[in-house]
Amino acid sequence: MAYNFITAQEAASMINNGDTLGLSGFTAPGNPKAILEEVARKAAREHEEGRPYKVNIFTGASTNDHVDGILSRNDAINMRAPYQNTPDLRKRINAHDAHYFDRHLSEMAQETRYGFYGKVNYAIIEAADITEDGHILLGCGLGNIPTYARMADRIFVEINEALPTSIRGMHDIYLPLDPPNRTEIPIFHANDRIGSSLLKIDPAKVAGIVRTNSLDGVKPFTEPDEISKQIGSNVVRFLLHEYRAGRIPKEFLPLQSGVGNVANAVLYDLGESTEIPPFMMYTEVIQDAVLELLMKGKCTFASTCSMTFSDETEKKLFADLDFFHDKILMRPAEISNNPEVIRRLGVIAMNTALEADIFGCVNSTHVLGTRMMNGIGGSGDFTRNAYISIFSCPSVTKGGLISNIVPMVSHPDHSEHSVDILITDQGIADLRGKDPVQRAEAIIENCANPMYRELLWDYLKMGKGGQTPHSLAAAFAFHCEFANSGDMRNVDYSKYF
Ligand code: COA
Repeated sequence: MAYNFITAQEAASMINNGDTLGLSGFTAPGNPKAILEEVARKAAREHEEGRPYKVNIFTGASTNDHVDGILSRNDAINMRAPYQNTPDLRKRINAHDAHYFDRHLSEMAQETRYGFYGKVNYAIIEAADITEDGHILLGCGLGNIPTYARMADRIFVEINEALPTSIRGMHDIYLPLDPPNRTEIPIFHANDRIGSSLLKIDPAKVAGIVRTNSLDGVKPFTEPDEISKQIGSNVVRFLLHEYRAGRIPKEFLPLQSGVGNVANAVLYDLGESTEIPPFMMYTEVIQDAVLELLMKGKCTFASTCSMTFSDETEKKLFADLDFFHDKILMRPAEISNNPEVIRRLGVIAMNTALEADIFGCVNSTHVLGTRMMNGIGGSGDFTRNAYISIFSCPSVTKGGLISNIVPMVSHPDHSEHSVDILITDQGIADLRGKDPVQRAEAIIENCANPMYRELLWDYLKMGKGGQTPHSLAAAFAFHCEFANSGDMRNVDYSKYF
């Protein structure tokens, strides 16, 4: 079938106020790069004319400035899900200018298919290529696009000429059946391929094709700071300890690692360890450090939803695709983050907390309990189902004004039932097989910063009975004190009784 090549502006002209758009991509890679910018400009024009214009944006995870950034600056987002991390959108969400529901990433696609979130008007797909019979070669991030493409009334395709067609073979597109017909997802090893390398769409739904030409624009990570390095080395120390004790099998287990400096520091240290054998990753995002581990042979295979490489690393990948072809597989988010598969493979999960409490609950999303930071992302998918679930964070933030270890988390994302190990720059608290008071002792002793330890011991001692001895009146004393004086160290519990 002959497709209609159109401009991004023409595509935007077809998108109406209130439409729901399902986008390809996961983090920056794979996002459309042109149409949403025109949608944002259209919103600005409509608002100038006094007309309402906002769209609903469903993605795989976070996006980039071509999507959430420019749309938020032009107040063009009504509803957003399931994850974001852009400062402009964060401001809109916290000001209630944009609605946002934060969802486990593995669930978004199936729930869209179940009809929980209404109709998808347009899917917008970044592609390296499309055939006349509707086979699409996707880019460097998949997200939930197989589902959005299936559900959408119409489809726009952005053919990104910066993507080499030799990327073909690095996608594994598989949609599970929905209940009551679902069977097992047949991944028994991180490198099992179960689907197809091209996304099949109905060519009759294609409303137009837009040409673009740009890399994903991911910035390289800065060198980890001392605190991140310390946390990273504690994580590796813990993994080695488990490995030596025989609690991790001798062939090792697949790793999931979050994004950011700590994740990079952990991967770097793992790469340096001579004792830890070459390992695989079963994760949602791979960053620059993973490409290096693949080149060194320390990581033998990475299953992911997205290759979140800096432009420099993306160029290296494209220059040497033959080498990486059988070492990386990109899967839809509901497969990369699938609880059944994570539990079967025995994935070791490593995620980051904003704060943790002395009993082992974790807040990943809400700054001081109320302001949305990013969202839960895939942390819940992995944490709840992991072989071992590790959370890490610095012991203090803002030079010590904030303790990241608190009496009670100000927003619960991961309960103590899912958190096995807590690690800060101070040390490691192994929470497995411990009751609440024993967990609190381990966390205060090993993870809290010395400047907060006495305050936390006092809190624990104040608790009057019960298996989890909280003093409810003072449970948020740290947060209240920060709101009052800007320094959690000034906590005075007598004010609460
Ligand atoms: N209270 C208040 N503010 C805090 C805080 C706390 N306990 N802990 C951190 N902050 C502030 C920091 O000061 C920083 O503020 P700034 O931007 O003004 O400098 C900001 O929050 C981010 O902190 P930082 O330490 O730089 O966080 P990070 O980049 O390591 O990210 C999360 C940490 C939790 C926000 C991030 O990992 C996340 O969004 N996680 C959820 C998603 C996820 O885990 N996905 C799965 C893996 S990909």
